[in-house]
Amino acid sequence: MPQKIVAGNWKMNGTQASLSEIQAIAETTQDIHCSAILCPPAHLLHSAARLPGQLAIGGQNCHHAPSGAFTGDISAEQLADCGAFYVIVGHSERREGYSESDSLVRAKAQAALKSGLTPIICLGESQEQRAAGKALEIVLAQLSGSLPDDPQVIIAYEPIWAIGTGLVPSVAEITEVHDALRTQLYTIFGAAGQDISILYGGSVKPSNAQEIFAITHVNGALVGGASLKAEDFLPIMRSLAES
Ligand code: PGA
Repeated sequence: MPQKIVAGNWKMNGTQASLSEIQAIAETTQDIHCSAILCPPAHLLHSAARLPGQLAIGGQNCHHAPSGAFTGDISAEQLADCGAFYVIVGHSERREGYSESDSLVRAKAQAALKSGLTPIICLGESQEQRAAGKALEIVLAQLSGSLPDDPQVIIAYEPIWAIGTGLVPSVAEITEVHDALRTQLYTIFGAAGQDISILYGGSVKPSNAQEIFAITHVNGALVGGASLKAEDFLPIMRSLAES
């Protein structure tokens, strides 16, 4: 059975003052029956990982090399050294803004696994690709190109046009993509592919979480904006626990 997971992606938001918000999330997660992961910016990882509670911490990106002359980058081993257990790789903001290819995303996922981190591998089509009827083809190609050899991963389907826009795909659209991802994971990994959590991401809020979590093969969410406040993040977790 795939684990039920809500992961929060803070992106480039937050300062030391935000640790109280992370603490509020961490303190409450132990009473809610699903896994909670929060990916704050790198400078908060070490402190966030030491807060009491059942909140696992993740990075938002890592370099594919273990160490070296890569100014401004952070390795998977360094994330683990801060107390992280997860790392987001292949977020569309990195695929688009930094031209990250599937093969680079795959190399990052492999590096994460080597350092004992679980990679959260993001996939998703643009508005133009969906309008052209290519959403499924694009997302499945990203999956094959970005997956490491090991099934110890989490997949996040995040249509680019739904991120930070308030737009959410229809239930039928999410169902179609998540069904196809599950089938392909089963084809690649066999039975182990059935246990991989597939998250939906893109404008998930307390008001739409219940409907999204009722969809077969949606095992949780990757949440951006609504993860910044405990009062938004915790109700999303409760919806998942009750689904
Ligand atoms: P959003 O972001 O929830 O603010 O749409 C999701 C993401 O980018 O992971």
